Amino acid sequence: MKLPIDQLNQWPTPYYLYDTELLGHTLSAVTEAAAFPGFHVHYAVKANTNRAILKIIAESGLGADTVSGGEIRAALQAGFPADKIMFAGVGKTDEEIRLALGSGVGCINVESREELMVIEQIASDMGVVAPVAIRVNPEIDAHTHHYITTGLAENKFGVAMSMLDTVVDHIVASQWLTLRGLHFHIGSQIETMRPFEILCERILKLQKELNARGVSMPLINVGGGLGVDYDDPMGHPIPDFKAYFDTFHRHLPLQPGQQLHFELGRAIVAQCGALVSRVLYVKQGVEKKFVILDAGMTELIRPALYQAHHSIVNITSQSPDRELYTIVGPICESADCFAEDTALPLTRRGDLVALLSAGAYGEVMSSNYNARPTVSTHLI
Ligand code: LLP
Repeated sequence: MKLPIDQLNQWPTPYYLYDTELLGHTLSAVTEAAAFPGFHVHYAVKANTNRAILKIIAESGLGADTVSGGEIRAALQAGFPADKIMFAGVGKTDEEIRLALGSGVGCINVESREELMVIEQIASDMGVVAPVAIRVNPEIDAHTHHYITTGLAENKFGVAMSMLDTVVDHIVASQWLTLRGLHFHIGSQIETMRPFEILCERILKLQKELNARGVSMPLINVGGGLGVDYDDPMGHPIPDFKAYFDTFHRHLPLQPGQQLHFELGRAIVAQCGALVSRVLYVKQGVEKKFVILDAGMTELIRPALYQAHHSIVNITSQSPDRELYTIVGPICESADCFAEDTALPLTRRGDLVALLSAGAYGEVMSSNYNARPTVSTHLI
């Protein structure tokens, strides 16, 4: 990601900076790697709903995966065609279901039998047939942080495999529902291909059982989850999309006419974004030297919430000497810490620093805690 100091110095900090050129390269890499027949990539809008970013992604031809009425509206406004918008979410309100059906979204991913009944009722009230896919909980351990693991039996997501038949039968018997297929998502920031291979095996087994009962699946949606390199974002700015899509091509042979959907969020936008902040103070503590930034957990909550690591660079300092600093924000919480004992070039009050790989789940998860202003954004 580009960090042109002269340009970055002109804007008041803190702010999110997006490198649209890198986003463009990333989108080309996705499109190229996913060019197998039947493969369709949807951008998981939750990762970043910045209007400019959404527009660029919509223009690249990707579809959108949404999880709220707000995200459906944002996707439509950005120019995603309604039939390329998928609507998922563990607790959809009646108003959101009406919005989805009224806008003509491509598919609603159903999370439970209880929800299915509500969708059916609303579809019949509106006189439309609801295209639905069943989100299945495949009970696979994605070996990622427990807050972002979603495919285990104890998670709140999806229909348990043991309850799948009942839900399928209900859809097939209903005049207001049409079964598009199955939806899966096993977790986020997955760094090896193995969990995805296991997912493919699980899908093929389920599909065989359903086919044997005379039920066909025009659509399989395997969710998102491809991880990015938080340790060396400059060295690996574009994730290995080829390995990812090749894995599904190899392990999940599609039936004639079958479509395979992907919902990638982080892998598309993480590396094109950085949180840019200014050093307020370099404070000598009893045991540690603190760098106190003007950005905190209000702007980027991932380190506080998931113990996530974001690489930090001092854009101003040219010093060849390095020192260990603990880098914190100004918020009145001990959790407001970005990194402990990290080596940076000699750092002084007024230096500009960037927290890298912040394009996904950064700006969207920011808050106004401590009555702080909404974080601003700039594009280069
Ligand atoms: N599909 C579904 C159903 C999802 O729940 C998610 C993410 C995605 C797709 C996109 O996953 P991705 O490709 O971005 O891994 N806030 C957390 C991440 C939460 C992910 C939630 N679901 C973080 O900052 O790490």
